[in-house]
Amino acid sequence: MQYNIAVVKGDGIGPEIVDEALLVLDRVGEKFGHSFKYTEVLAGGCSIDANGIPLTQEAIDTCKAADSVLLGAVGGPKWDDVPSDRRPEKALLGLRSELGLFANIRPAMMYKALSDACPIKKEIIGDGFDIVICRELTGDVYFGRHYRAESGLGWGEMGCDDMNYSVYEVERIARRAFEMARLRSGKVTSVDKANVLETSRLWREVVTRVGLEYPDVTLEHMYVDNAAMQLVRNPGQFDVIVTGKLFGDILSDEASMITGSIGMLPSASLSESGKGMYEPIHGSAPDIAGRGIANPIATILSCAMMLRYTFGLTAEANAIENAVEKALDAGCRTGDIATAGDAVIGTHEMGTKIRELI
Ligand code: IPM
Ligand code: MG
Repeated sequence: MQYNIAVVKGDGIGPEIVDEALLVLDRVGEKFGHSFKYTEVLAGGCSIDANGIPLTQEAIDTCKAADSVLLGAVGGPKWDDVPSDRRPEKALLGLRSELGLFANIRPAMMYKALSDACPIKKEIIGDGFDIVICRELTGDVYFGRHYRAESGLGWGEMGCDDMNYSVYEVERIARRAFEMARLRSGKVTSVDKANVLETSRLWREVVTRVGLEYPDVTLEHMYVDNAAMQLVRNPGQFDVIVTGKLFGDILSDEASMITGSIGMLPSASLSESGKGMYEPIHGSAPDIAGRGIANPIATILSCAMMLRYTFGLTAEANAIENAVEKALDAGCRTGDIATAGDAVIGTHEMGTKIRELI
């Protein structure tokens, strides 16, 4: 079977890590008899350089026509001064909304081999850490109106960003979270700021109502500030966290660090049809771009998520995940996951090792 994948390498370390991930996909194709066809799409800073805008209609159309999208990372200091409506991040946000990608699935899981890289004391982290953040992706303050107004208080201009969530948006992400919890340990923690925000009060009401349809799943509500604290105080209490776009952005970076490195974590962004875009949760890391030292694992694991969620290829996804685990067990370490005394390897060596283990 042939699978058509739109590939957005993007900026910074994006091209290096995506190249390794594609070689891994090729290896899976060879082993399991699939063919993956890649169509490269420019988006982000590289599209600003080539086309003057971060996301062209052609790029959107190519991504829509593909079976799924693989994305490296976008952005970098080179484009810091472009006007806000043309920043590289707009490409990411544009793709998410154009493709209707409302559910951002961000697993944060610690590998045994990397437990030394976890910054939390052993007594607290216990046997490990394995949670999934189910982050709503197309609403919230990101997609509200962004504007400037006069404060009227003599305090000068005011920056305003409207935060909003509709019942429908909360319902569909809540269902995703409950379904996922059913396949895991049966617990959902919904994170909001319902003591202050009206969007959060609606969020809590709707999640509670949807929760009644899942009596087998335990639902707990937590304010976001407390959740940020609880994640380091007692990480083992969490399994599935469902939250909005802004809180999910922050909590997923925090959760990633508990696993040892943000360079390890993949993500899936899914639409109602199951079509998706897959990307590492880290950014374009311009400080290390072009040096061949970035960790490609998050992107490689994003391919595994693609195989599992969009293509339904479970054995193939497992093959990638097992190979990553074996490479780590064999002591392969890029700089970000190395601890004192470890031999450090580069992006391509890590990718090669994982490929060989498939
Ligand atoms: C993420 C990123 C993006 C977000 C930025 C680049 C727009 O931080 O995917 O976590 O905030 O959604
Ligand atoms: Mg983020």
